Amino acid sequence: MKNFQNKTELSNYVSALKDHGNTIGFVPTMGALHKGHLSLVNKGLKENDFVVVSIFVNPTQFNNEEDLVKYPRTLEADLSLLKTVGDDRIIIYAPSNEDIYGSEIQSQAFNFDGLEHEMEGAFREGHFDGVGTIVKRLFEIVKPDRAYFGEKDFQQLQIIRKLVELHHLPVKIIGCPIHRAADGLAMSSRNARLSPAHRADAPFIYKTLISAKTKFGTKSAQNVTEWVNTQFKKQGLLELEYFIIADIATLKPVKRKSTKKSYRAFIAVYAGDIRLIDNIALN
Ligand code: PAJ
Repeated sequence: MKNFQNKTELSNYVSALKDHGNTIGFVPTMGALHKGHLSLVNKGLKENDFVVVSIFVNPTQFNNEEDLVKYPRTLEADLSLLKTVGDDRIIIYAPSNEDIYGSEIQSQAFNFDGLEHEMEGAFREGHFDGVGTIVKRLFEIVKPDRAYFGEKDFQQLQIIRKLVELHHLPVKIIGCPIHRAADGLAMSSRNARLSPAHRADAPFIYKTLISAKTKFGTKSAQNVTEWVNTQFKKQGLLELEYFIIADIATLKPVKRKSTKKSYRAFIAVYAGDIRLIDNIALN
């Protein structure tokens, strides 16, 4: 498995592959890889000759210094895991801050037609400027044909689609379903930091989303939202930050249901100091 830390070397290597007629898939990650990430890599391997996986904990998208410091960094284990799915067709790019940002670790300001102000954007100041900055930069370095993003971070996926549209970037964005543990908890690099008690309670998040979906069939968004808030008040360890039913095109909270629109329920929950997010398609 080829492993690059330097953007020019990676870029030259991938360009040569493309010159020989190979297609390139790209899976950007922050490492601490799990089966959710691997599902994206596997889809990439099915649809392309080679897959570039970037592993980079991007400082500009963290609004919380402690979250950045404590974010798990497990490069050796990540490489071993990737070897099990496609040793000879996977290319790793694991750069330093310096290789990506030079001496100034700063994000660019983006306008994503308002998508950036909803939900995660409202609760995590500057988060999507950081995501936009790193993903655009990575696209320019890797120049992939297709890039794979998980619906786990649905708002991020929609924002990347918007980034590509507004900046006319020559890459096809492919959304991938949420990979879950057997008890329903959406896989996340942050799950490894949950205490046993929080881990035991965390499947409550997905169970509540499933019930919310059923209720949304007959009840208003406001009604379902109130019900979810009550469930979390009754629950022990988990603290609800937001539950929002939104139109998937605008990500704005739904006021009045329309059969012509598609909706998702989005949730953010604190389990101790670990922040977990999840979402579910409602119609
Ligand atoms: P990270 O959280 O490492 O996630 C990398 C990719 O894996 C994202 O597209 C994410 O949505 C996807 N993913 C994570 N957990 C998943 C799951 N359980 N099922 C399916 N897909 C899942 O998202 C980021 O990193 C960063 O913001 C990044 C895009 C790399 C920019 O820094």
